[in-house]
Amino acid sequence: MDVINLPFCHFSKLHTLLSPNLLFPSPSSQTPSFTLRTRNLSAISLLTRFSSPIRASMASPSVTDASTKPFSVLFVCLGNICRSPAAEGVFTDLVCKRELNSSFRIDSAGTINYHEGNQADPRMRAASKRRGIQITSISRPIRPSDFVDFDLILAMDKQNREDILEAFSRWKDKHSLPDDAHKKVKLMCSYCKKHDESEVPDPYYGGPQGFEKVLDLLEDACGSLLETILAENKHIQES
Ligand code: 4NP
Repeated sequence: MDVINLPFCHFSKLHTLLSPNLLFPSPSSQTPSFTLRTRNLSAISLLTRFSSPIRASMASPSVTDASTKPFSVLFVCLGNICRSPAAEGVFTDLVCKRELNSSFRIDSAGTINYHEGNQADPRMRAASKRRGIQITSISRPIRPSDFVDFDLILAMDKQNREDILEAFSRWKDKHSLPDDAHKKVKLMCSYCKKHDESEVPDPYYGGPQGFEKVLDLLEDACGSLLETILAENKHIQES
């Protein structure tokens, strides 16, 4: 998989948007649907369209893969308009400041498709902008290929993690997903060093302080996430 190295930050979403069409021009006719229970939306029908076969199941592994492939991180929340786009923005900003953008693929997704195609919530974008962080992502639901394409899948809260794992169980056999792909799923706050919280709280129905809290937690978690990845993947070189 070639990475498009653009001479500016926030390239990851463009990469994500371009690659499926470039690699897999023939759409699938499968349109599975399922329902997720959520705290704020009692029942939301989740309809995902799988426009591409699973990439890695077709690719033969190569000995150079681990050292040349970008390390890939997917941030996931419920709607993919508040917490996970902010996490994507905060982590991308850190990676860009270290000039490591060619070594990473960074994306975000939601466990529901309710906001699919939408920009991040304006309150989240404004709060991030005040801290110098741009949020450029467009909401999309998690899809089966994410369990192959990403090295780490970071859930913002425990319900998100449960929903991600439930989707994995549902998709595993039908889409020939790796048996151990569920091990890629971790809680974002498990990386926090300065905060005791175990979850990034949903700010959607609250006031402005909720968005600041999200960013405080994400800045803490993303910093230590990056240090952990670099410590465990020595081939990722800083310039
Ligand atoms: P997020 O926040 O999961 O952080 O993107 C939410 C966005 C939308 C809704 C709930 C939470 N909603 O109920 O539509």
